[in-house]
Amino acid sequence: MLTTLAVENYRSLRRVVMPLRGLNVVTGANGTGKSSLYRALRLLADASRNGAVAALAREGGLQSTLWAGPEHVRKDRPTQGTRRTGPVTLRMGFAGDDYGYLMDLGLPIPNGSQFDLDPEIKREALWAGPFLRPAALLVERTNHEVRIRSASGEWQRGGHQIQTFDSMLSEFADPERAPELLLVRERLRGWRFYDHFRTDATAPARRVQVGTRTAVLSADGADVAAALQTVRELGPQGALDEAIELAFPGSRVQITNTAGRFEIAFHQHGLLRPLSGAELSDGTLRYLLWVAALLTPRPPELLVLNEPETSLHPDLLPALANLVVTAAKETQVIVVTHSRPFIASMEALSPDLQTIELVKEKGSTTITGQGPLDEPPWKWPSR
Ligand SMILES: Nc1ncnc2c1ncn2[C@@H]1O[C@H](COP(=O)(O)OP(=O)(O)OP(=O)(O)O)[C@@H](O)[C@H]1O
Ligand SMILES: [Mg+2]
Repeated sequence: MLTTLAVENYRSLRRVVMPLRGLNVVTGANGTGKSSLYRALRLLADASRNGAVAALAREGGLQSTLWAGPEHVRKDRPTQGTRRTGPVTLRMGFAGDDYGYLMDLGLPIPNGSQFDLDPEIKREALWAGPFLRPAALLVERTNHEVRIRSASGEWQRGGHQIQTFDSMLSEFADPERAPELLLVRERLRGWRFYDHFRTDATAPARRVQVGTRTAVLSADGADVAAALQTVRELGPQGALDEAIELAFPGSRVQITNTAGRFEIAFHQHGLLRPLSGAELSDGTLRYLLWVAALLTPRPPELLVLNEPETSLHPDLLPALANLVVTAAKETQVIVVTHSRPFIASMEALSPDLQTIELVKEKGSTTITGQGPLDEPPWKWPSR
């Protein structure tokens, strides 16, 4: 389980060190940094597929995603532009029960290449324990060089070379040389993100699809019918029907199969025939997508949900809260939401839920009620 998440200089997250528990709800007014936090987590997950640099490029490049405020924020003074004294640095990392990982991205020293604006990975570290300490380091990367500590605790002789745009997670995760790196990489690759399922008329989730056993709903929900049937066959007995009954009393979901093509059949009171996926209301379809995502028979290490309540009627929120809280029994969950009734429903079901309220002060995101001493311990390595 993750215990700490740290982000520095990513959009409005100038400096955030956040404690995490089993079920975490991140909330706050518009523009306080909720989506930025979600995206920062995605960037970390992308690093495990060697995609962090490309993901930053898709977001408009490092210069655009970097904190746009001054290097040092003084609460008692108006914001002023000053000459930068430190290097450009975008850093993010996490610590868990056993291992921690961080990466630090920056800009290259210009050398006339067309790629002079490409972010570079300057530092990476993998360690054991709650925060980075030199004695707990297992694998370390400084610019082009990766050093690995062997099982006996000695640093292996001679560093390994790595390209500045490659992550050591993808290049050096090796069961012999660096088994911890492999473990952490596989965990990161398993993190699951769900963000705004499409439910418009041409949404992938409305199409009939050839079904195969689907323990993990795809991010666009295209395989929702197969995923629901997988929940029915491989998930906890009766869980699917209970989730439907809770949200739509008296209704039933069946999955029909025509020569391998799976389709939703939604039986409702007062109708002579069931409705197909193409005919469902946006809210009904979206709820079914959440059922498929959250009752997954193969829970990940971490599940991150961005505003799952979108377009659901308030009456459905207790049922959705029930799904999230049930999922949190098997997996660590971070929910980004600004719906108070939804949070209240989750709180009623899960007393040990942690609510993290973000606020913006002078353009930068802070956590309500978190003083400097409440922060979990965290250390960034020097460049
Ligand atoms: N490079 C940057 N530097 C500083 N602030 C930025 C940067 N890029 C975006 N922002 C600001 O960060 C804030 C947080 O944006 P974010 O999308 O995370 O908000 P949110 O909490 O998800 O809001 P909403 O509830 O409206 O979705 C916004 O006010 C945005 O203008
Ligand atoms: Mg947002």
